[in-house]
Amino acid sequence: MYEIAVLPCDGVGPEVVREGLKVLDAATAKHGVKYETVTYDIGAERYLKTGEIITDSELQELRQFDAIYLGAVGDDRVKPGILEHGILLKIRFEFDMYVNLRPIKLYPGVETPLKDKGPADIDFVVVRENTECLYCGVGGFLKKNTPDEVATQTAIYTRKGTERIIRWAYELARKRDKRKTLTLVDKANVLIYGHDLWRRTFAEVGEEYPDITQDRAFVDAACMWFVKNPEWFDVIVTCNMFGDIITDLGAMIQGGMGVAASGNINPNGVSMFEPIHGSAPKHAGKNVICPVASIAAAGMMMDHLGETAVAQSIETAVEQALASGKLGDLSTKSGVGTSEAGDLIASLV
Ligand code: IPM
Ligand code: MN
Repeated sequence: MYEIAVLPCDGVGPEVVREGLKVLDAATAKHGVKYETVTYDIGAERYLKTGEIITDSELQELRQFDAIYLGAVGDDRVKPGILEHGILLKIRFEFDMYVNLRPIKLYPGVETPLKDKGPADIDFVVVRENTECLYCGVGGFLKKNTPDEVATQTAIYTRKGTERIIRWAYELARKRDKRKTLTLVDKANVLIYGHDLWRRTFAEVGEEYPDITQDRAFVDAACMWFVKNPEWFDVIVTCNMFGDIITDLGAMIQGGMGVAASGNINPNGVSMFEPIHGSAPKHAGKNVICPVASIAAAGMMMDHLGETAVAQSIETAVEQALASGKLGDLSTKSGVGTSEAGDLIASLV
């Protein structure tokens, strides 16, 4: 029996999570796998009412689960950063979920804005470092709100943090067994300390993986290659900030934010799964958001828990639903409701 903590949170989070659990129910029932959920009402609504973001005792509780399944965080009524740092980043950091795994895969039947590119060309994985870089919240103000104001925002890179994510990415390139190539995406030509550490670590750890080809790309050029030659990529490893940015671009070339799923993984502890997209408050409660990303995230969660048959069933159902063309263009204007899309995928499990 798996114990799953469910954090629907804000905006469209609750509606996509509902569909993810619908499909998870169908897939686990099919394979005789049992799970239980505990839902937490963490998010903007509660924060606005009580001032509480996430309590210490909730954090303690979350530690006991086999996995965490999250919807989306963010609300226009709350100052930017409060919920993001207070919930999402808090959980990622507190539980040391140092891998942010973001597959970029174009499914057959899904349209990409890239001319002349198809599913054979767009199939790679971004391994985003998830606990360091500009996300540490290190910095401050001097002379705030004066003409002489100074603001600093420091990026932190540790040898340990860099090495463990790079090693995890090499392992993934080996496991995937596709092009056996790991691309380091950085900005070593400008970030002459932080990304020098990344480059040295990449080369050193790479000596343990003679079967994996090492490749490097500056992040600006990588954005260009994503559009021009996505087929060059197999596994990418990158820092937290760049990983955030390039995976929104990645989501677009795989058919949009509606299909992009991710995992926040602590290989030795509890991990959390979520769609890449945000809370999209203006679409909340209208049954117009595509739930595929959230459903695929549930599949990643099962895969992570070692339930490969369940994960495979979800993956196949998603694939068939997308190939059928019945989900339209996956945008909010597709004409296919969130719950109808979930029904369809659940019926294909
Ligand atoms: C993401 C999001 C978050 C991030 C925000 C909401 C803090 O954009 O998961 O990509 O920057 O990591
Ligand atoms: Mn992002």
